[in-house]
Amino acid sequence: MEKNRNGIRPDRETAYVSLPPSTMLNPAPVVLVSCAEKGRPANRNMVTVAWAGTVNSDPPMVSVSLRKERYSHGLILESGEFVVNLVDEAMAKAVDFCGVRSGRDLDKAAETGLSYLSAEGMETAPAVAGAPVHLCCRVKQVLELGSHDLFLAEVAAVQVRKDLLDEKGGVHLEKARLIAYSHGLYQQLGSVIGFFGWSVARQDVLERRLAQVAVRPAEGSRSRLASAGKPHPKKTVRKPGKRQQSP
Ligand SMILES: Cc1cc2nc3c(=O)[nH]c(=O)nc-3n(C[C@H](O)[C@H](O)[C@H](O)COP(=O)(O)O)c2cc1C
Repeated sequence: MEKNRNGIRPDRETAYVSLPPSTMLNPAPVVLVSCAEKGRPANRNMVTVAWAGTVNSDPPMVSVSLRKERYSHGLILESGEFVVNLVDEAMAKAVDFCGVRSGRDLDKAAETGLSYLSAEGMETAPAVAGAPVHLCCRVKQVLELGSHDLFLAEVAAVQVRKDLLDEKGGVHLEKARLIAYSHGLYQQLGSVIGFFGWSVARQDVLERRLAQVAVRPAEGSRSRLASAGKPHPKKTVRKPGKRQQSP
């Protein structure tokens, strides 16, 4: 087969078609972002956001992209605060509603049955009751990108629903029934198929961790799972007491 100057097969020989540039980065972590009016904290709102992400570990920072015309955009710009509420299957319908109706026109809490709680470290922004996790955020920068403004924010506090903690205080988000958003569809996450570093984990670690989580290997991953416990040729030595960070 003929190759191009990079040593790979030309596009037309592959199984792909080219589409115009778009934001087809999926799945996206759909969340409810709660906020309130500066000086009038009883005027609260929730907005559904899929353009949200983790952008820094230390300090912990997240981003949320909002169109200027969203009612929440003005509230967050003025107050400098918002709470990112992770959402679960039970909240899915309310999440959709908060993404197709504006707080300018109605009270989304009254319409959906969701309610607000106070959020640690926030002067104005509330959290959404029942959400598995609240990330209480202070805005550090606003970048005007075009269609959306990117709110870069530092996570000032995190609140986790108590039933997601084990007796040692470990957080078990796998029990939260979180949902994702992918190309216009809300989807369940499905079963656990691995854990951070499982591809290179030692056999004893693999067995211990797999026993802790209900792992049902995805089709085709059985062989990878079986070989995952073999010693890795370039085994990295972890510093004692230092927990491995996710990327
Ligand atoms: C699944 C989903 C994801 C959405 N993601 C975003 C987003 O990332 N940014 C945005 O500006 N609007 C997003 N929207 C649209 C807003 O949630 C929607 O316009 C909402 O009604 C605005 O509410 P507000 O005017 O009360 O702020 C999304 C809607 C849905 C249903």
